[in-house]
Parts: sequence; structure tokens; C-alpha cells
Amino acid sequence: MDSILVRGGRRLKGRIPISGAKNACLALMPAALLTDEPLTLTNAPRLSDIRTMSVLLESLGCEVASLQAGRVLVVGAQTIASHVADYDIVRKMRASILVLGPMLARDGRAVVSLPGGCAIGARPVDLHLMGLERLGAELELRDGYVHAQAPGGLKGAVVEFPIVSVGATENLLMAATLARGTTVLVNAAREPEIVDLARCLRAMGARIEGEGTGRIEIEGVARLRGATHPVVADRIELGTYMLAPAIAGGEVELVGGRRELVAAFADKLEAAGATLEDTEAGLKVSRGNGRIGAVDVETAPFPGFPTDLQAQMMALLTLAEGVSHLEERIFENRFMHAPELTRMGARIEVHGGAATVTGVERLRGARVMATDLRASVSLILAGLAAEGETRVARVYHLDRGYERVEEKLSACGAEIERVSERAA
Ligand code: UD1
Repeated sequence: MDSILVRGGRRLKGRIPISGAKNACLALMPAALLTDEPLTLTNAPRLSDIRTMSVLLESLGCEVASLQAGRVLVVGAQTIASHVADYDIVRKMRASILVLGPMLARDGRAVVSLPGGCAIGARPVDLHLMGLERLGAELELRDGYVHAQAPGGLKGAVVEFPIVSVGATENLLMAATLARGTTVLVNAAREPEIVDLARCLRAMGARIEGEGTGRIEIEGVARLRGATHPVVADRIELGTYMLAPAIAGGEVELVGGRRELVAAFADKLEAAGATLEDTEAGLKVSRGNGRIGAVDVETAPFPGFPTDLQAQMMALLTLAEGVSHLEERIFENRFMHAPELTRMGARIEVHGGAATVTGVERLRGARVMATDLRASVSLILAGLAAEGETRVARVYHLDRGYERVEEKLSACGAEIERVSERAA
């Protein structure tokens, strides 16, 4: 198993290209199940989660071609040979549930394993199921699987979500494109990944209005066709690398980044003392010699502060002058990075869904362990600023969502490398 080794204290200078969004791509790939023509996705990120989705789609009979070293994916679902998404694949990645809506919409049947628990909270799929039932699906939970049928096809309906769910909005958006009549999604998620999915579906012939707002209207069509679609930039990768010069000092240009993808986060970063500047190629972030200031953060659905940047922001705030309060409103158990940051000298107290961070003047390198994707990168960010050496173990979490993190950061002058555990 690999670890990432960081020697802290280097100021950063350079450019980091932002990849296509993992979470957008994980919703776009299953959209290929809606048509018998190939869907081509350009600007795809090269990540293990994307490979997991490819394996899942192949297990359903799709052909997935990876071109240009994984930058371009062509997904063809001429027919769906198997309608069963197996536990062994689904348990690896919750986003697997996104094959349910498209299979049901196209063929009137699907059997998908329930994703099961996840390290960052219970994360049920009840909203996905409630929504599909509103469209007329008959569901039965048996042996850990959802057995879904819609023999006469899905029918448009009003689906009102009691809480905002990105995944449930995506599943319903896809399912509704082939349903008879009009579907209205109320209290829909507004994330850029939803907008990207809607654009792709529209290019495939779907009739959708209102994406990016809380109310999306979909008029079902009889069939969709193939299309070519570029995956939107990864706003979480963008935010993560915006934090690198903020925590280590220096100046980094995020190529392909746009402020509006991370507006609430960008405001907090500025409030903490980083300088942001829009450039022709993207966004530049810098910090001089002054200390970071404390800020309070509360996670919320888009356009609020993303939960997927909370751990990374906490890494920055461990070094702030003063006390910061962080409130996690999306997932109930998402402070697993706090004890690891504490091992590096941070002062953090967690009380349920809130954390109080009292800034310290310096962090010290340590051996730490990643517990999930965003936690692992927060430890790398902390390592960039810490004195001495930080070794982050279990980096398979990192490889699920960050492409070549060590290459991107070392190109800006960070001392960071991947080492195999044997050498460690
Ligand atoms: C997606 C992202 C994930 C991000 C999250 C919130 C992907 C692949 N993953 O996850 O990185 O952290 O959005 O921005 O895009 N919930 C229910 N019932 C459901 C569905 C969700 O109660 O049926 C709850 C969840 O437990 C959570 C909240 O709703 O508390 C939001 O979850 P949701 O937006 O659905 O997250 P995901 O789509 O799983």
C-alpha cells in the first residue's frame, strides 16, 4: 500500500491544471444507459472511482472505451445485457446507485444492491427510492437489493424532496428524461454537477428546464441519442488546490478554475487572508507572510460552503490566528480528520456536528492516516505547512478522487512523493 510523504515548509509557486469533476463524471457515465448510441465524455478525470463505474457499467453489458490515456471515455449501451448491479461493485462506491434510474427508465427493470454504510455517516438512499416510486416504479427490498420494476414505463410526476440530495436529484433527472409526461423536481440540488448532467442530457435530446435552481422541469421524450460532452471542472479539486498556497504561502494559478464554482468557499478564503485574482487561464491564489485569520464555516448544499471542502478548510484554520468554528450540516460523522490533525499539533475540539479550532503557530509533521477521500487530502495540505515530515498512509482513498496529487503539487515546488509501504 502506498503512502504520501510531504516535507513541509516550502512556499509554492506555479500552475495546477484542474481536472474534470469526479462527481460529475460519475453521474454522466450512467446517463449512457439511457440510449443505445454511444456517449462520449471528454475531459474525464483519471481516478479509481471512474474505473469502478466503468467496471459496473461493463457488468451491465456496456462497452466502455478509455481513449487518450483516460481523458476521453466512450460508453456504449447498445443493449443492457444484465440489469443487476452487484453488491461487490456497489459496496465500493455509493455513486453506483445512479444506474438505477436510467435502467428503470429505459427497460422498466433494475436490481441494484443497496450501498450499505459509509465512513462519513449513514447516507441512506430513501430519497432516490421515494422519487422513483413517485414516477410509478414498483420497488421491493430483498436480500440487500432494490428490485425495481415499471412494466408500463415510468410516468412523469411532481417529486418534492424533503432535503436536498445531489444523488437523488441526479437519479430522478435521468429517469424522468424517458418518462411519459412532465416531471417536476422540487427542492432539487443546484450543484454544478447537476447543471452539467442536465446539459449532457439535453445534448442527448432530453427536454429539461431549470437546472441550477431548486425546481427542475423535465418533459419526457420517447428516446435519447448519443452525444459528446465535456465534463465540468472539478470544484472540489479546485478548492483543495486553492488552499495549498493559502496554507503553505506563495502563489498558484489554478488553470481551468472559475470562482463561481466555489463562490462561498472563495469568500471564506479571502476572509481568512488569501488573495484571489481571476486570470485568463483560471484563478490565482496567493498569500504573503502574514498569518491566516480565523473564520467560521457552516457547510450547506450549493451554493453554500461544500461539505467536501470542510476537512481541507479545517487544515488551514489549524494555523489561523484566533478561534474558528466549523459546523457540518450535511453528514453527521465527518470530522475524522480532526484527531489526525491533532497528532500534528492542531488544537481541535469536536462536539457532535461542530468543531472548534484554536489556531496554533505551527504544525509538526507526523505519521497520519487517511480515513476518507477529503480527510486524506486535508492531511497533505497540513503537511505542506508543517515542520518536518508528514507521512499520510492509506492513500487509496486519495486515488479515488485526486489525480496525480503529488505531481501537481511538486510542480509548484512542494516536496512531496509517493512511497510504497515496503520502502516506508
Ligand atoms: C454527493 C457527492 C459527495 C458530496 C455530497 C454532498 C457524488 C458522487 N458524491 O453525494 O461527494 O459530499 O453529494 O454534497 O456526487 N440523504 C438521505 N437520503 C437519500 C440521499 C441522501 O437522507 O436518499 C442525505 C445524506 O445522508 C446526506 C444528505 O442527504 O445527509 C445529502 O446527501 P447527498 O446530497 O445525497 O449526497 P450524495 O449524492 O451521496
